[in-house]
This record gives sequence, C-alpha cells and structure tokens, in this order.
Amino acid sequence: ADHLHSSGAVSATGMHDHSATAVPCEAIVAGETSGPVRQFDLTAARTVLQLDNGKTADAWTFNGSSPGPELRVKEGDRVVVMLRNKDIEDGVTIHWHGINVPCSQDGIAGVTQNAVQPGEQFTYTFVASAPGTYWYHSHQMSSIQAKKGLLGTIIVEPKEPSAQLSSVKDVSALYQQLGSTFLLNGSTKGLNVQGDAGDQVRLRLTNGGNETINFSVDGAPFQVFAMDGHDVHEPGLLDGVLIPIGAGQRYDLLIRLPESGKVVVRNQSAKSLPITLGSGSDPEPSNGGEMFSFVDYGTPMQDDPLRKLKPDRSFELKLGQSLFVNTINGRSFHEIPSMTVKEGESVLITLVNEGGGDHPFHFHGHTFRVLSKNGIPLKGSPVYLDTLLTKKDEIYEVYLEANNPGLWMAHCHNLGHASMGMSMMLNYE
Ligand code: C2O
Ligand code: CU
Repeated sequence: ADHLHSSGAVSATGMHDHSATAVPCEAIVAGETSGPVRQFDLTAARTVLQLDNGKTADAWTFNGSSPGPELRVKEGDRVVVMLRNKDIEDGVTIHWHGINVPCSQDGIAGVTQNAVQPGEQFTYTFVASAPGTYWYHSHQMSSIQAKKGLLGTIIVEPKEPSAQLSSVKDVSALYQQLGSTFLLNGSTKGLNVQGDAGDQVRLRLTNGGNETINFSVDGAPFQVFAMDGHDVHEPGLLDGVLIPIGAGQRYDLLIRLPESGKVVVRNQSAKSLPITLGSGSDPEPSNGGEMFSFVDYGTPMQDDPLRKLKPDRSFELKLGQSLFVNTINGRSFHEIPSMTVKEGESVLITLVNEGGGDHPFHFHGHTFRVLSKNGIPLKGSPVYLDTLLTKKDEIYEVYLEANNPGLWMAHCHNLGHASMGMSMMLNYE
C-alpha cells in the first residue's frame, strides 16, 4: 500500500481526487500590503556537509547549508522567495510552517503546486502578516526531505517592537535531525550566547525534528513568551519546569541573565546540544521537574470574543495506530474523508490521542485556538497554535475560523507518522 505523504505517487493519484470538487489553489493569490518587498533566493542542492564534530554528512541543503539561511522579515513585508532546485531528483517545494499564506503559496506538492524539478524554479510570495517564530521545510516527501536537511527558520519581527522587547537579545535555536545526527543551528555541539548579568534574551526554540523535546532551563527563572509565534497574555515566571516542545512547534522563552553564573537550556531527552547564555559558573543541573502546562498559564484577556462562540461545524479526529499504519478515525490517508468547511464558519475540532506515540497535530493555513484539555477549559491566556502536541489518552478541543479558502493538509508532524497515514485534508466547499 502506498501511504507516502506528499510523495510523487500520491500527487499522481490520491491528491487529485480531493482537488476535483474544491477551490483550485492557483486562483488564490497573495494579499495586499503597502510594506516593502523582501526578496530571497533559496537553492536546494545535494551537498556533502562538513559537520563540526569532524564528520561529513550527505545532506540536501538550501544555499549550501542545513539548516538553510535564517530569513528575517518585518510584519507587513511582502516576502518573495525564489526557490531553485539544482539536483534533488524527486523535486522540492517549500512549506511556510505556521504562516497563513494563501493556498497557492503553501508548497504542498501534488495539491497546491507541482514539485519543482531539477533545473526548475518557483517563486513564492506572501505577506508576513503576523509576527512570530516560524520555520520552512520542503513538503515534497517531507518525511525524507526534512530529515535530509531541507529546512530553516523564518522570523517575522513586529513592526513596532514593544518598549519591553527593544533591548532584548533575540536568539533563534533550531533543532533538527539530519539523518541520525541531532543538530542545533547546524552544530553538533550546542550554542553559546554572550551576555551580561541583567541582559534579557528571547530564545526562539524550534523543534524541526520528529520527536518531542523536553527542555530544562537551569540558572534563572524564565517566561514562556510565545507559542507557535503567538504571544502569551501576561506570562508568569517559571522555575524548574520542563518545556515539552512537539515536532514542528516553536516556543519563545524570555530569560533574564542572573547576577552570577550562566543559564543553560538543555534538551533533557538527549542530554546534548546545550544552549549556554552568559558567562560564569555552571548552574546546578536539574533532574526532571514538573512539565509546563498551558492550561492555566498567563491570564485571560478581557472582552475575549470566544465567549460568544457557537461552532457551525465540528469534527472529531482520533489519532491512533493499527499495526504499522498511523491512522485518523481508524483509517489512513487515502481513506480519510476530508473535513469540509465553508468560508466564514466557526469550526470545532476534537483531537483524541489513542496511542502510538506523541502526535503533534498540525493544520496548514490556519491558526487554531485551544479551548480545553481533557474536558477542562483553559483558564489562563488564550493559546493560539498551528501545531498541538498530544500525548496518549489526551483529548483537546480546538477552534478555528474558516478564513483561508483552499485545500489544506492537516497531519501529525512526526513526519514518519504522517507518511504512514496520519494525514488528511481540510477543504473549502
Ligand atoms: Cu510543517 Cu505539512 O508541515
Ligand atoms: Cu503522530
């Protein structure tokens, strides 16, 4: 059986069935902005990478490196990216993970465009409308191509940085799995950030791998400033709490360097690739600790529009596994009926993790809001995500507005699971 996610095989068969009745993506183009145009060139190519542990890796790179270049733009900019494929035989695309681009720019091979073949090019254009930490990766046979190295960070800076953040040091840290090697910003060793006591650092953590990473922060209290690019309302100080970041998710931490000593952010699962902030003596390493929960983190907004919510549609997605196939409602990709919505509708989706591992579930083209976990409504800040980490037996209700017409994928961002069937479509009628 062929359950390959966004593979050539799927684009030639299964995916076309979905597009027959729905809005053709090519007709939906980039929005308007008066902001400046920011142009980038990304060339995908096979590269023998020299790693900083002395080893080499057969990688697929953007502009000769993996991760590819960090793209930094400002809210309101028009982003224009020329993708060239030098010699990746299966073709490549770029998906702008977390950015709600028009469907035609979403980079889904076989759905929104054909994969860009060797010697070909494709220009993406979209407006960077919401500030935040995002990332990009190929979406042609993504479980293979992301692991081969075709990914990078894209940061949308706010148009007017708040006074609070203007003096903050902005550091991004992208974790990826290149074949069997874990890298942090392309390094096998970790990351050192200079700084003095009292400095504030905004650490943008991105999990570009396939497994959940639990981060510990030793040496200073910290705040979860944003999740998946969306600011938390009045985030409180945390200490000795582990931050679980699912595959595909981003967390921005705000950390003030202490009077003496360093802060060390560690990947608890691998005990490797530390991020060291500041100088001085090493902090006492913590062992474990409580897991961060967004259920009661931050404070609610006043005049929250959600109080009036009445969903027009609801769906339930049971994420599970049968034998070697990953499933949604007991079926895998080709057999899963699309969620069909109409523009303007309020959509309630219940996600149930029935086992087979962590399932960080990602919706393309839409930001959703988490309403409840295990039947308990969220009590703190509103939580807006594009990828929700679900663990076994957890049940979440999320809500999204059908405000971006087109054909969209929704899938587990353990890309191995996605390619083994845990993928479906969200289509507009
Ligand atoms: Cu980052 Cu379809 O995914
Ligand atoms: Cu999964």
